Amino acid sequence: MPAVRANHLYKVFGKRASQAVALLSDGRHRDTIKDLNVTAAVIDVSFEVQPGEIFVVMGLSGSGKSTLIRMLNGLLPPTAGTVEIDGTDITTLSRRALRALRGEKISMVFQHFALLPHRTVLENAAYGLEVRGVSRAERHERAAHALDLVGLGDWKDHLPNQLSGGMQQRVGLARALTADTDIILMDEAFSALDPLIRRDMQTQLLQLQAQIGTPEEILNHPADDYVARFTEDVDRSRVLTAASVMEPAPKAEAADWERVAPDAPVVELFQRVAACDSPLAVVDKEDRVIGAVSPTTILSALAMPEEASSAVPSLANGAPSSTGRSPRSGTSSPNPRSPS
Ligand SMILES: Nc1ncnc2c1ncn2[C@@H]1O[C@H](COP(=O)(O)OP(=O)(O)OP(=O)(O)O)[C@@H](O)[C@H]1O
Ligand SMILES: [Mg+2]
Repeated sequence: MPAVRANHLYKVFGKRASQAVALLSDGRHRDTIKDLNVTAAVIDVSFEVQPGEIFVVMGLSGSGKSTLIRMLNGLLPPTAGTVEIDGTDITTLSRRALRALRGEKISMVFQHFALLPHRTVLENAAYGLEVRGVSRAERHERAAHALDLVGLGDWKDHLPNQLSGGMQQRVGLARALTADTDIILMDEAFSALDPLIRRDMQTQLLQLQAQIGTPEEILNHPADDYVARFTEDVDRSRVLTAASVMEPAPKAEAADWERVAPDAPVVELFQRVAACDSPLAVVDKEDRVIGAVSPTTILSALAMPEEASSAVPSLANGAPSSTGRSPRSGTSSPNPRSPS
């Protein structure tokens, strides 16, 4: 299933927008509907973005890129057409559901930064997590880490207006990274950066991008050294689950063993496995045995994976890794007929 799907999207500004869409979808050129006094910003755009993919939309100034991207997260309602995020048509969602979706699934780096002027750089970077109700300590820790990544570690306590445009743009990037959502929408997110920093930021992003998967997969199979270092301090017993560490079970014997759910974190299995003479049986919803966990299973799972990253090519040159996730240009620009 595509992560994002735009389906015959239109955005027309002006009172007679619907009438304009009817004419445009009939094949009329935007120049021929000038008498309607509307601005047709996005005309019949359809595309799909698969998980792990970088999708780029290019177009001249005023061609509708910002308008299009704002429809993808529901900040602007389309005049016609639909947007699906993970299969859900977001054009039918209530405002509240949309806000929740933005909090959990989609972050956005705005063309004009959109920072909160009276909050510090750290609070701005942590904002997405604040909206989600993450504790102050945790959101500040994660925001501080993202600010380090974008080279603003020393600016946490400053206010946005004390920063240059490029620095403010990096706060916007840090805010999106901190939110750690599956989808990041970037509206010319690197435009205000000088070429050196821009390249550095793009490389950072590709590295994060190359690393997708569940937390368990990332811990066990980091895409490269950078990610491996990133996860070094993670308490593996809290991330790994029974299902991810279990071994094949001898079905007959396992029938009598104590049972655990596949999603039980390993940290909860320590005591239980120590208190039993036998291993634990991991069972599915229908109480069928799908695996076994013994003290040895747990110990070997908690050991760091061996140089899992060494086989993966370095990302130092900014190229995406061998996973084949390369930038792809849009098959349709926001407003193909409008180099105005
Ligand atoms: N809220 C609005 N009301 C009326 N017209 C608008 C509105 N927002 C955008 N437009 C118009 O829609 C068109 C597309 O604007 P948009 O900002 O999407 O372009 P863009 O491709 O992002 O340009 P740039 O590269 O300069 O950022 C422009 O003609 C603009 O004037
Ligand atoms: Mg724009």
